[in-house]
Amino acid sequence: MKSPTPSYAGFYEASLASPVDFWTKQATKIAWYKAPVQTLTMNEKGFYRWFEGGTLNTCYLALDYHVEHGRSEQVALIYDSPVTKTVQKYTYAQLQLEVAKLAGALRQLGVEKGDCVVIYMPMVPEAAFAMLACARLGAVHSVVFGGFAPHELAIRIDDTRPKVVISASCGIEFERVIPYKPLLDDAIHLAQFKPPHCLILQRPQIHALMHAGRDVDFSTAVAQAEPVDCVPVDALDPLYVLYTSGTTGKPKGIVRDNGGHAVAMKFSMQYIYNIQPGDVYWAASDLGWAVGHSYIIYAPLIQGCTTILFEGKPVRTPDAGTFWRIISEHQVKVFFTAPTAFRAIRKEDPQAEFLQKYDLSCLQQLFVAGERCDPSTLKWLQEITNKPIIDHWWQTESGWPMIANMTGVELLPVKPGSATKPVCGFDVQILDEDGQPLNANHEGYVCLKLPLPPGCLPTLWNDDARFQESYLSKFPGYYFSGDGGYKDDDGYVYIMGRVDDVINVAGHRLSTGEMEEFVASHPAVAECAVVGIQDEMRGQRPVAFVVLKDGMAIDEPMIETQLVTLIREQIGAVAYFKSALIVKRLPKTRSGKILRKVMRQIADGESYNVPSTIDDPAILGEIAEKLQNRKIGKGFGEFAVI
Ligand code: COA
Ligand code: AMP
Repeated sequence: MKSPTPSYAGFYEASLASPVDFWTKQATKIAWYKAPVQTLTMNEKGFYRWFEGGTLNTCYLALDYHVEHGRSEQVALIYDSPVTKTVQKYTYAQLQLEVAKLAGALRQLGVEKGDCVVIYMPMVPEAAFAMLACARLGAVHSVVFGGFAPHELAIRIDDTRPKVVISASCGIEFERVIPYKPLLDDAIHLAQFKPPHCLILQRPQIHALMHAGRDVDFSTAVAQAEPVDCVPVDALDPLYVLYTSGTTGKPKGIVRDNGGHAVAMKFSMQYIYNIQPGDVYWAASDLGWAVGHSYIIYAPLIQGCTTILFEGKPVRTPDAGTFWRIISEHQVKVFFTAPTAFRAIRKEDPQAEFLQKYDLSCLQQLFVAGERCDPSTLKWLQEITNKPIIDHWWQTESGWPMIANMTGVELLPVKPGSATKPVCGFDVQILDEDGQPLNANHEGYVCLKLPLPPGCLPTLWNDDARFQESYLSKFPGYYFSGDGGYKDDDGYVYIMGRVDDVINVAGHRLSTGEMEEFVASHPAVAECAVVGIQDEMRGQRPVAFVVLKDGMAIDEPMIETQLVTLIREQIGAVAYFKSALIVKRLPKTRSGKILRKVMRQIADGESYNVPSTIDDPAILGEIAEKLQNRKIGKGFGEFAVI
């Protein structure tokens, strides 16, 4: 591999020694309308800002720039949808036209620079057009994952107050057609803010009922629209807001600016993924997640690659060979997905027989993120593919990897269980409770010394105070990630999981705090605790422990069914909330702190310390018995013995 720099160590050290010089140089690699005046500044709130004074347009960088520089006939986007048996390709010129026309339609509906647009779509090309069309107008998009229920969509509508909501008549989950439009209608009914317009894509599988005066047919509006040009925006202007789970029922609106984001996207493609213009890059994620934003749309297009939009699942669409078929058919050079997807494949095809049918010589390396890649999945992937398997760590907040094997600089040896080393610009420190850096091999809080590099969240949408409080206050001078972990003697970082109420279910980030709020709202519930226990395929799944109010007739199966339905209706099926166990009391310390960690450890079959301050140790036995009776948790035989 031709290395553009001498070594990872030298490149990384340069990025920390002089962030301004380092990122000033990287910023020259994108086409600004006006170059930034200052690389790094601090605003009046004390928050860092990148590339002040620069103007650009992210859609221009993703499309028009390539059309102007010889890529108009190159395929930009491949829509591969096994659930509709469709493969459709768009060249850069075609994609530019689709996006420019949709931008024209949005403008007709009153969308201008700075306005918000909510996008609630399945994985169809029009969802990609919608994101890029917003970027073209300088409007701020907020994509809401299709698996979320109306309540979640309503929260996001109220917080962003969109001029337009873009949606579709349905999504397709395996063979099931899921109507989206009734969910949107319910969300608008629930929301305080009523969007003036909805742009609805009618898919052939279901025709949605339209709300006269508000709803507009997507295809008709686009057919009648005039294409519009890119609107220059300031580097600091928001490109999008993407909500992610925090520790409460109110999700956090992660803001992404235009300038820092574009520079980070470009940088990551070259130095982390080692992918060049013209290569085919595929992230099998959903546009509703940060991975989908960064690595299905913005980064591959800014880099001039061909990207793939996949509407399907790793298995049963139609089989566990889908990923290998797509890699081979479209000549994918770099592939990226969540470990849970491979666990699903391994369950169905442990010998990787499907893989044998395809020629994967095009594949250079395979990246995983979204949750810890367990060593057993990593080993299986290494054996069946014989390719470098790169685990890398990032968050919606960062928008791009913070710890990775920077394969475009130097491919470092892979250590199972570690996401390798910090990426340029990220000064990763492991701190103790008092904010002191810990020595190697000691587990603590994973933090990043400020400033964060370009591309990371500059703040939370309309909530500077929460940004400060959630990320910057616990350890002054650092960004607190919410994860725990340690570094080994070689500086490799091991992320061990969240230290807060966030869990990761099949690569989907969810809040147990939010689930507790809903469970507690049931009229029979006195108090509850929801913990994330280990799940063989999904990594984690939520389990509720519930104490009923005195005098309530206990019909455990009925209450459990009601709670399962409640979470499904309020958060969505994606929460994968299947178990609510009724217990007499919750284990607590004498000061009233619920011992959630101990409950999780019991379910997972891990050893645990009973705190000396526990008010009634006997309750732990009852918890274990309940789990045992229901065979819930790794500690109680839930996992298959492979
Ligand atoms: N729209 C509507 N419903 C959705 C949905 C969507 N976009 N995504 C998931 N759901 C529903 C599912 O249909 C399922 O509903 P059900 O309970 O009625 O069956 C429920 O939410 C749970 O979904 P999930 O946990 O995803 O289970 P699954 O069996 O559908 O798929 C995996 C399991 C592992 C194959 C799948 O979760 C997967 O591919 N995960 C990878 C996620 C990923 O890429 N994350 C991005 C980080 S890189
Ligand atoms: P999200 O914001 O949805 O991307 O989720 C971010 C969280 O997922 C992180 O805070 C981690 O807890 C977890 N995560 C993401 N990538 C990894 C990884 N490679 N290893 C361990 N945990 C990860």
